[in-house]
Amino acid sequence: MSLARNTVWPQAPGSAGCARFRIRPLLAVFAAAAVALPLGACGRDEPDLTKGKAMFTQKCGSCHALARAGTQGTTGPNLDAAFRAALDKGLSRETVEGIVHRQILHPRRASVMPAGLVTGADAKDVAAYVSYAAHRAGQDSGALAQAAARGVSGPTEDDVVAALRAAAILRAPAGA
Ligand code: HEC
Repeated sequence: MSLARNTVWPQAPGSAGCARFRIRPLLAVFAAAAVALPLGACGRDEPDLTKGKAMFTQKCGSCHALARAGTQGTTGPNLDAAFRAALDKGLSRETVEGIVHRQILHPRRASVMPAGLVTGADAKDVAAYVSYAAHRAGQDSGALAQAAARGVSGPTEDDVVAALRAAAILRAPAGA
């Protein structure tokens, strides 16, 4: 029964311990660099991978290739390649999830990658999907296979890229 699960954590999900983590992102940046952030330890709900995939294809895919998501952007690193060596060496997917989550919220200063393209639960869903999909053989199946076609609200990657181009941060591709 669920009481047993609740007693593992003296605080209810989303209570002080977790909130403190959320409102002190800088600390998290340093912590995530050193250790696998136990994202699951905050009692959050299971991330929604299908939602994460849909948002990834819309908001990240223009810049990042990720085979399972079917995206082929080249402005940013190929995310299968980015995590290949580390995963092969035994880095946990949970750690990858923490790295991706941190990158979404806090890209390096002056990065082409805009901070906070997705936030809150959305950022966690995207990070969870990327960590699930990166350098994983085969193809997504079931609901995940359909996810990319699903729409999400908010600016699309085209909007973001157009804005970056307008701000002369990103060069338009030759011939465009
Ligand atoms: C406008 C282009 C652009 C968009 C959109 C974008 N990124 Fe990036 N991303 C980059 C670039 C460029 C880098 C290389 C490092 C840097 O500049 O910060 C990067 C780096 C990363 C990294 C680190 C990879 C490594 O090798 O360490 C991850 C993870 C990542 N992005 C995930 C995402 C996710 C998830 C999204 C969507 C929420 C996203 N990116 C959207 C351009 C983009």
